[in-house]
Order: sequence, then C-alpha cells, then structure tokens
Amino acid sequence: MTLLPGLLDTEAIRKDFPILDRQVHEGRKLVYLDNAATSQKPRQVLDALSEYYERYNANVHRGVHVLAEEATALYEGARDKVAEFINAPSRDEVIFTKNASESLNLVANMLGWADEPYRVDSETEIVITEMEHHSNIVPWQLLAQRTGAKLKWFGLTDDGRLDLSNIEEVITEKTKIVSFVLVSNILGTQNPVEAIVRRAQEVGALVCVDASQAAPHMPLDVQALQADFVAFTGHKMCGPTGIGVLWGRQELLEDLPPFLGGGEMIETVSMHSSTYAPAPHKFEAGTPPIAQAVGLGAAIDYLNSIGMDKILAHEHALTEYAVKRLLEVPDLRIIGPTTAEDRGAAISFTLGDIHPHDVGQVLDEQGIAVRVGHHCARPVCLRYGIPATTRASFYLYSTPAEIDALVDGLEHVRNFFG
Ligand code: ALA
Repeated sequence: MTLLPGLLDTEAIRKDFPILDRQVHEGRKLVYLDNAATSQKPRQVLDALSEYYERYNANVHRGVHVLAEEATALYEGARDKVAEFINAPSRDEVIFTKNASESLNLVANMLGWADEPYRVDSETEIVITEMEHHSNIVPWQLLAQRTGAKLKWFGLTDDGRLDLSNIEEVITEKTKIVSFVLVSNILGTQNPVEAIVRRAQEVGALVCVDASQAAPHMPLDVQALQADFVAFTGHKMCGPTGIGVLWGRQELLEDLPPFLGGGEMIETVSMHSSTYAPAPHKFEAGTPPIAQAVGLGAAIDYLNSIGMDKILAHEHALTEYAVKRLLEVPDLRIIGPTTAEDRGAAISFTLGDIHPHDVGQVLDEQGIAVRVGHHCARPVCLRYGIPATTRASFYLYSTPAEIDALVDGLEHVRNFFG
C-alpha cells in the first residue's frame, strides 16, 4: 500500500459513500476517477435529502403552516451555511441557482440589462480566457452578440497556464467585466487571481470567478479573492444536482436588475409594473431548489467535518503521486501543468495515437471511470491540436491504490491497441 504524507483516512471516509462499494462489469471493483464531472454523495447528504422529503417538505416563504416554516428555516439555514463556507460578508449575497452555468448566465444577463455604470454595450469589452468551460464562454458570446460588445480573451502558454504577458492590452479602460476560471476543469491549472483582479480594479472592471472546480477542493474565501461575483455548483462538492450558487457583492446585487421574473422575487405587482424584493430573493424567481439546497447544506457540514485544508492537502499529495506515475507511462502526454504546484486534482492526458474514447472504454471495462472528450472546454483542445483528452480527477475519498489501478489500466490499453 502506498502511503503519502498528507493523506486523509480514506478507509473511514469511503464508508460514508455507499456507491464506492459498487462493483461494475461483473465483479470489477469501481475505481471512480471522474470527480471533476460530479462527486459521489456521502450517506449524510443522502439522509438529509430523504429526511427533508419525509418530514419537512413544503414550499418556502409562502405558507403560515408548520411545515412551510420548517422548510423555509432549512432552506435559509442552507444559505447561512454557504455564506459561512465561502466567508461571505452577508448571507444576502448568496443566490441559489440551478448550477454554475446558471450562475454565470445570471451575471451576464444582469450586466446586459443593467444601467450605467455596469451596462455592457457596443462601446465596451468583455474579457475571458481560452481555458474556460463552455459555461463561461457561451453566455459572454451571447451577451456580446446582443449588445455589440467586443469579446477578448487571454491565451494559453504551452505548459497549460494563462498567458498574462499582454494583460494591459487585454484588460483596458473599455473592459466592463473579466470572467475567468479559478481552477481549470480540463487542464487542472490554478490561476493567479491576484494579478488579474489588480489589473481589473485599475481600470474599474468587474471580476467574476468560476470556482466550480475550486469550491469542492480547497478553502474558498470570497473576501480574500476580491472578486465581485463567484459561481460554483453543489454536485461537485458532495451535494445533489440541481443546486448552484452565485455569490455577489451586496451593493452590486442591490443595483443590478433581475434576470428571471416570477413568484417570490417581487415586492409588489400591478398590471402595469412591478417592484422587486431585495437580494437574494430578487434573483430567485419561482419555487427554488429547496431539497437540493438542504442537501448542499449537509454536504458543507460534511466537508467541514473533515476540513477543507485537509482535503486540499490530500488531493495535493495524490496529484503529485499521479503526475509522477502517469509520466512513467510510455507515450503519455499530460495536457496541462506537469507539477502538482498551482494545480487542482484533474489531470488530462493523451496516450500516443489512441483515441481517448478508446482509452476510456478499455478503462471502463476494468472498472475505472474517467471522462473522455473535450470536457466542455473545446478551445483548449483546439489550442493544443488534439481532438480530445482522457481525464482522471480525484477527490477526498480517492486513494493511491486507485492511481496505481489507473496506471495498470493504461498499460492494458497500450497492450490492447498494440
Ligand atoms: N464541468 C464538468 C466536467 O468538467 C461536467 O466534467
């Protein structure tokens, strides 16, 4: 058994995740290395979800009966947990959405419909990067098409990092918003927030950070980031699907217009016009994802019981080991940083000329679950001249033995394809 400094007690942790006991393909032990796509859920979260539906289910903010009050307390309690988890100055800065994509679309639409000084129009520029997930590209393309704003981006270096050498030409006095990923879902790269925020602040641009691959894996402090918006999703951090978060600075949320209209986001409605509830409710039209928020609250309790610092140290040790072992595989090329510094625990690679879909299929036959394809970050594949990658991604329950299984599995793939 490989022991690395900083590892968590995975034997104990894995007992919390029933699915990790599963076998696949007639008796193969499941080796789940697709955590960047979605994490597995501990029993504590599964129990919170069923307890919610068994005992408390009601609509929130609407009823005067006991269940409605209890459901509202649970839903708003989950908001408190999120606010504390990300060190938000106020719980009213936490908006529940469906997922990180919706959170990012919400920011783009707020700015598209905003008045000065936030308004994005044909005189202004939007800045993203070439390593964004499609969810942080397409909403900005849509906004640029609608408003005539110019879309600009930072390119990538050969070793999978942001090329900030031209930062003063990319972020200019015309820039209204800079939106970038904290940790790349395809390259694993962790980006230098401080340098980008400093330049954005110099020109008075807003900053939006996609923390989908960071919030599950490291302590996240929105005040330390000094961004204006931070988006992430619940299902990658042990929570259920259907719940995302957008954190935004309070004064911005007060000033910016809503995107979706409907029940519970209003103050008054007449047939001619409406006024809106204060944030966060202004941005949560309709019945929200109540059980999902409660499940996310339980996931946060669970992660806190282990400790985000410890989860980060565990994944760092695993990533260091994985990079070293993967680079021992002949013909394997890591797409992204080849050191464990400033990177997350998602590692993309190619294996000679073998198509990643074939790699993934042969690994799957051995019980090893990885993701293959462009990982919703196709511009990265175009940048590096590859059709796709195979990606292994780890979480708090991943073990060195699973990395060994992956490396053995890749040997099998190489033998299989001659
Ligand atoms: N964004 C998820 C991934 O990278 C789905 O796999």
